Amino acid sequence: MPPVRVERRAVDETESRRANGPDWDRYADEYQRTHGAFLGDLGFVWGPEGLTEDDAQVLGDVADRDVLELGSGAGQCSRWVRARGGRAVGLDLSHRQLQHSRRLDEETGVVVPSVRATATGLPFADAAFDVVFCSFGALQFVADIETTVAETARVLRPGGRFAFSITHPTRWMFADDPSEAGLVASQSYWDRRPYVEVDEESGEVSYVEHHRTLGDWVALLAGAGFCLRRLIEPEWPEGHDRVWGGWSAVRGRLTPGTAIVVADLHG
Ligand SMILES: C[S@@+](CC[C@H](N)C(=O)[O-])C[C@H]1O[C@@H](n2cnc3c(N)ncnc32)[C@H](O)[C@@H]1O
Repeated sequence: MPPVRVERRAVDETESRRANGPDWDRYADEYQRTHGAFLGDLGFVWGPEGLTEDDAQVLGDVADRDVLELGSGAGQCSRWVRARGGRAVGLDLSHRQLQHSRRLDEETGVVVPSVRATATGLPFADAAFDVVFCSFGALQFVADIETTVAETARVLRPGGRFAFSITHPTRWMFADDPSEAGLVASQSYWDRRPYVEVDEESGEVSYVEHHRTLGDWVALLAGAGFCLRRLIEPEWPEGHDRVWGGWSAVRGRLTPGTAIVVADLHG
């Protein structure tokens, strides 16, 4: 990998997509090799704490429901939905992630129809789904979050559910470091400038993550016609010693690492 320079600066939707699509294509094999067993081929995990949908019960009964997953990767979560009788469909920007989804279709025998697209332009009819969910998927990678939330509202049926997990917004105050060094607040919670990696050789943006505060999320959802139902901040389980990027027992015992937001479209 060429060396990268880290910056905090504004990046628009075109630049975010141009960076993150190829980045996920490059990273997909390592991501699935490193995290595949933890995710489980037919598993539904909401984040590095390991909270499962079986325990969280966020989506409700998915049997006979039309379900869309944003940023579905290899489709493990959608496969969990399919195994319970839901008609889950995956959507992801990365061709390589979707190739892993095809691999799991064959290995598990549980097929998740998937489409390569961006969460800012959903290639589906209005009111096509009962549930849209996203487990650490597309939401923190898009710049144009207003369009993504509006698109989600458009494809949901009245009363439909939108549930998603993201890096807990308070984590943006700390360096992305799983050790004690990552417990010292060094950045403003209210600094919305995205985290940007720039390829030192080409000068191109190679990776982007976007930050919204909890208040931003409430305003975004309310503005698009959603009613907030739950905000889950999974606690770090006793004895769970897996390190995933900046998530670790050291930090997880003291600060939330993941936020799961559950909202319903007004009926
Ligand atoms: C951290 S992975 C999570 C994948 C899956 N949900 C899981 O739990 O393994 C984030 C996924 O979001 C996808 N993604 C990034 N930007 C996207 C966009 N604009 N639209 C759709 N998917 C996107 C990536 O390709 C990647 O597969």
